[in-house]
Amino acid sequence: MQESIQRAAKDLAGAENAVALTGAGISVESGIPPFRGKGGIWEKIDPMEYATIEAFMADPVKVWNVLIKEMKTIIDQAAPNEGHKGLARLAEMGILTTVITQNVDGLHQLAGNADVIEFHGNFAWHRCMACDARLETGKIDLSRIPPQCPCGGIYRPEVIFFGESIPPEALTRSRKLSVQCDVMLVVGTSATVHPAAYMPVIAKRNGAVVIEINPEPSPLTGSVSDYLVRGNAGEVMTGIIAELERLRPA
Ligand code: APR
Repeated sequence: MQESIQRAAKDLAGAENAVALTGAGISVESGIPPFRGKGGIWEKIDPMEYATIEAFMADPVKVWNVLIKEMKTIIDQAAPNEGHKGLARLAEMGILTTVITQNVDGLHQLAGNADVIEFHGNFAWHRCMACDARLETGKIDLSRIPPQCPCGGIYRPEVIFFGESIPPEALTRSRKLSVQCDVMLVVGTSATVHPAAYMPVIAKRNGAVVIEINPEPSPLTGSVSDYLVRGNAGEVMTGIIAELERLRPA
């Protein structure tokens, strides 16, 4: 792993316009389980039964009780880990411009990244299905499920359920950045959900170096990515930053 960390630091040291694409794996060390693989949320909860917009509309009480309350508990206790902090440091060093994330936990912003594109929305806000009024998640009264807006409508999290489209501005900007970037760092994603998983393909087609950070290979490995730094995001990002600071003393 050390050798690939050094290779990634060298590729990043020369980058002017690096972009990161992150998935649930980067938040695992913050106590947020991934969706797939060992300990994945979808191993316990069937996404087709609880995480589609149709399921929410058909039975909001069920989706609130089984999925949304669980997500709130998990996200409330989470803080940025070394993986998030490493990406924030790359931005500080003027190497990384933007994080494109599939996560809804807001940890990249908390770690200090100013430019974060949220492909699947953010759990920090809820919206009334009737009058569109927004309310911070921390202010939602959970004594009544589903939580109700004063207008009588029910609240839903501002995340993208399966069956809903990606916010158009997020998709447009992500595509553009994927064309323009010179390095794409793909951290903690199984690269199985499109169109997010297509961003590294666009980056590769446009001449970027695509570096994966993941303890396991993904469908991108050996086909789209130039190489996989096989390890956990926290440890790998710490190693890359240390190497970069050696290569580029402040
Ligand atoms: N560091 C880095 N990567 C890790 C770590 C870690 N500590 N632990 C696990 N991983 C990797 C796993 O090997 C896996 O490849 O993170 C990935 C997690 O994959 P998923 O759980 O499928 O998460 P993600 O790719 O973000 O899923 C995409 O699917 O269900 C939807 O909306 C949901 O945004 C999510 C989308």
